[in-house]
Amino acid sequence: QTIYVLNGPNLNMLGVREPAKYGSATLKDVESLCADTCKRFGLDMVFRQSNIEGELVTFIQEARINKASGIVINPAAYTHTSVAILDALTLTELPVIEIHITNVHQRESFRHHSYVSKVARGVLAGFGVQGYALAIEGLAGMIGAKER
Ligand code: DQA
Repeated sequence: QTIYVLNGPNLNMLGVREPAKYGSATLKDVESLCADTCKRFGLDMVFRQSNIEGELVTFIQEARINKASGIVINPAAYTHTSVAILDALTLTELPVIEIHITNVHQRESFRHHSYVSKVARGVLAGFGVQGYALAIEGLAGMIGAKER
């Protein structure tokens, strides 16, 4: 089984971007963590990041076309604005896990609403980049992938 791990705008700057909030791990480090976690559950992974909303929509559509088993997504700022990403996730009919590095509920009120949560089976926020590993574990359980 293959899962998609998708990342929205500005996450390419992890490690440099507001380290007090987002930590010192880079997106490359996050990719390695996700790859290791997928391996534990015998899952193949497609890992992507884009700063462009429409490109994320295309990646999400691709997950359906390629018969992926599920999606872990940190939509970043598009979480709070994008009906297009919500619609794309909905049309895949795949289990979706939404993950945020920070606890968005503790931050500005414009970060409290998520379009993506309308379709997400599970939501993680505030676990730092470790949340990606937790999200993959949760998704693995949903799709019946057992730890090796
Ligand atoms: C984020 C939270 C969003 O509000 C923000 O726009 C991001 C990152 C997080 O991972 O904590 O870019 O999704």
